[in-house]
Amino acid sequence: MAAVPPPSPPQVSVHPAVQPLSYLLGTWRGQGEGSFPTISPFKYSEELQFSHSPNKPVIAYSSKTWKLNSGEPMHSESGYWRPKNDGTIEVVVAQSNGLVEVQKGTYDAEQRSVKLKSALVGNASKVKEINRVFEMVNGELAYVVEMATNLTSLQTHLKALLKKI
Ligand code: HEM
Repeated sequence: MAAVPPPSPPQVSVHPAVQPLSYLLGTWRGQGEGSFPTISPFKYSEELQFSHSPNKPVIAYSSKTWKLNSGEPMHSESGYWRPKNDGTIEVVVAQSNGLVEVQKGTYDAEQRSVKLKSALVGNASKVKEINRVFEMVNGELAYVVEMATNLTSLQTHLKALLKKI
């Protein structure tokens, strides 16, 4: 009987839709500052991960934060980034505080920037809108998160700078 050939190994590659954002793939660590007109400012450390299953047009995203001085866990969140070849991107995020987001926006592969605005914020008692901007600054990943609540217009809540490890 003729031998059955072994299955060919899966082709391991970054999906073309993910390629323009492949500089994000990996683990990033750094520090951030939180603020909002209604709260006391605070500092945090963060680990952020972007990972990719070969041949899928999706980047898995997760972020964990800790109080800078005590190391006590703070906010965490995870989700999926779904870039399209036309430069648009859709992101879904589930937050540890129960809030969910659908973000829509654009990326610029040359500038290495991603700009997102909430198309949907769900299960939130106060938050009405969330904007997120990610940029590369001197080889580091910088992001800013702005939010609007029922009482406060769009203002910065988070700013962070992370290095790839
Ligand atoms: C998009 C992500 C986030 C959203 C939508 C969000 C939302 C909020 C809201 C609605 C408040 C209350 C503001 C008010 O009462 O006027 C708040 C406060 C606060 N947030 Fe965030 N947050 C986010 C991310 C984070 C992260 C990453 C951290 C920690 C690193 C954090 C730490 C805090 C702290 C310490 C306060 C003040 C104390 C408190 O009310 O619990 N937040 N946030």
